[in-house]
Amino acid sequence: MPCPALPEGFDFTDPDVYRSRVPLPEFAQLRQTAPVWWNAQPHGIAGFDDDGYWVVTRHQDVKEVSTKPEVFSANVNTSIIRFNASMTREQIDVQKLIMLNMDPPEHTRVRQIVQRGFTPRSIRALEDALRRRAGHIVAQARENGSGDFVTDVACELPLQAIAELIGIPQDDRARIFDWSNKMVAYDDPELAITEEVGSNAAMELISYAMNLAAARKECPAKDIVSQLVAAEDEGNLGSDEFGFFVLLLAVAGNETTRNAITHGMHAFLTHPGQWELYKRERPATAAEEIVRWATPVVSFQRTATQDTELGGARIKKGQRVGIFYSSANNDPEVFDHPEVFDITRDPNPHLGFGGGGPHFCLGKSLAVLEINLIFQAIADAMPDISLAGDPRRLRSAWLNGVKELQVRYG
Ligand code: HEM
Repeated sequence: MPCPALPEGFDFTDPDVYRSRVPLPEFAQLRQTAPVWWNAQPHGIAGFDDDGYWVVTRHQDVKEVSTKPEVFSANVNTSIIRFNASMTREQIDVQKLIMLNMDPPEHTRVRQIVQRGFTPRSIRALEDALRRRAGHIVAQARENGSGDFVTDVACELPLQAIAELIGIPQDDRARIFDWSNKMVAYDDPELAITEEVGSNAAMELISYAMNLAAARKECPAKDIVSQLVAAEDEGNLGSDEFGFFVLLLAVAGNETTRNAITHGMHAFLTHPGQWELYKRERPATAAEEIVRWATPVVSFQRTATQDTELGGARIKKGQRVGIFYSSANNDPEVFDHPEVFDITRDPNPHLGFGGGGPHFCLGKSLAVLEINLIFQAIADAMPDISLAGDPRRLRSAWLNGVKELQVRYG
């Protein structure tokens, strides 16, 4: 179905579009005129042997796709909506070793195991250490007077949180951080990270994690690695499975939280009334609104396992279906004035952490904790922080990323 408002060739996964903005007006057009819309693409441009994908824009439809894994598979073509056209099918299929790209029952097995590391108790156990880290990060930034908020503040806590969670020894953290940073964002030529550097970093991280798992298996300690890998036959992870899990954490937990924090800071600085309110009242609802506002993951995809119907569109078996969280989070059917940044918004049924199915973000509580801790630390130690430049956006097909935000720490 053509959408009259969109220019010929417009693609909701074109990384160049996201270099300047998230296409919110175009999503609004689709929600009104063709809520499930076929986005044609030049053959194979996304790395798949096809000519396009469905764009799912309404909140209710994103939820429906997310909660029906038997109809909408995360495994057939993975959850990643766009790879480089040069990727081989073999390279894409390797990604199926991470749980984000598995379907039940395999996904259920892995999820049940790794969930042990993310219980409310394990997350609470990190709180004091992360609060100290947040205070330290903010104090250091303040000493600089001014600088790039992304590198000075937003990057560090998510990296530390994952390292803390897995129990990575302090001496190894710099290496882990370096690999994690290299793995993301190879779509952006300015970062000068080639695909080869990115995949080498991924291999090094996996092999580090596998070695860590093997060591803990041999000699268990009181940490989560030992819990996840000891006694494989009792329903635990093998060393290789653990390696891919750490890889997923490094991607899923870093870039997302870092961008939520950066977009949140930018939103506060461009909505001074909300910043004053935050400093005064610190409402518990703020973190969820920051994630809705930021929607760091613009989209993931599923593949139809059978002919089906969604939002008035007839989807054929084998076709790819893009679930656009950015659109769902701005759906006026669900949110009053979604264009307003309101840290007291309640209820706030946003889909920034996913549409509620089996893949719903495993790290949600950790992410919310990190966001709360960093903004509390900023409000305490540099309440007069101000903007010193416009955000510079990341070139990416599916992440709402900011790579630089100059501020004065005050
Ligand atoms: C603001 C920060 C974050 C956002 C916006 C976010 C968003 C998401 C989204 C959209 C999904 C996919 C949901 C679906 O397909 O239904 C997801 C999955 C996942 N996230 Fe997060 N995430 C964040 C932080 C984290 C953190 C801190 C961690 C861990 C340290 C984490 C670990 C994961 C994992 C392991 C999955 C895959 C779960 C599965 O396949 O079962 N995320 N996240």
